[in-house]
Amino acid sequence: MTALPPDYDADPGRSRSFRLGWQEDVHGPVAERVVAERVDVVVDVGCGIGRFADALGGRVPWVGVDRSPRQLADALHRPVLRADATELPFGDACVGAVVALWMLYHLDEPRHALAEARRVVRPGGLVAVCASARSNDPELVPGGYPPTSFDAEEAAETVADVFGPDAVEVVRWDEPLVRLADRDEVAAYARSHLLPARVADAVEPPLSLTKRGCLVWARRT
Ligand SMILES: C[S@@+](CC[C@H](N)C(=O)[O-])C[C@H]1O[C@@H](n2cnc3c(N)ncnc32)[C@H](O)[C@@H]1O
Repeated sequence: MTALPPDYDADPGRSRSFRLGWQEDVHGPVAERVVAERVDVVVDVGCGIGRFADALGGRVPWVGVDRSPRQLADALHRPVLRADATELPFGDACVGAVVALWMLYHLDEPRHALAEARRVVRPGGLVAVCASARSNDPELVPGGYPPTSFDAEEAAETVADVFGPDAVEVVRWDEPLVRLADRDEVAAYARSHLLPARVADAVEPPLSLTKRGCLVWARRT
């Protein structure tokens, strides 16, 4: 499958053109679990501008890692490091958790980044990743999104390839979680999801969107 080419330096406004509501996002639930597990430090791979650190609210030490200089320059939290998900600047088994949220579809081979997360997390530690489904937003994209290298349909299986089937837990959603009030919101949403502008002309707002995706947890044994 084809990885989605990152555009965070070429078009930094695109990824920020529509702010998702917390209710449909994974940052809050992932943060709560990382806090509840009393993790000593969490590495946020593909941290972007640090929205996961917002959800953590300083309750667990956080280190952000991203490949994009622009995302790191705009990051709202520190410390951040520039590195690739497949080559993390940490030793073996040295952190309690790694999260890689909404980013594995940018990698040609997400298993390489998963193996790298597994390398740096301690035995007993947690890794969290997530993905949208190709069948996400059916009201806006009736034919489905083009396949990527890490879609919710195969995400759990891909994680299990690296961590083992017994190490993986999956949380799925399939609910009307987003409401787009008017044409401007539909257009902004389409842009943020790399959809052609014409999809906004084919629907009549207000529009309720069924969000489909999954969060996958893996515990290193
Ligand atoms: C959709 S954003 C997600 C940001 C953040 N995880 C969040 O949930 O808000 C994807 C991020 O992954 C980063 N990224 C893409 N490929 C990467 C790679 N190979 N290594 C590290 N970061 C990468 C991008 O620069 C971007 O900041």
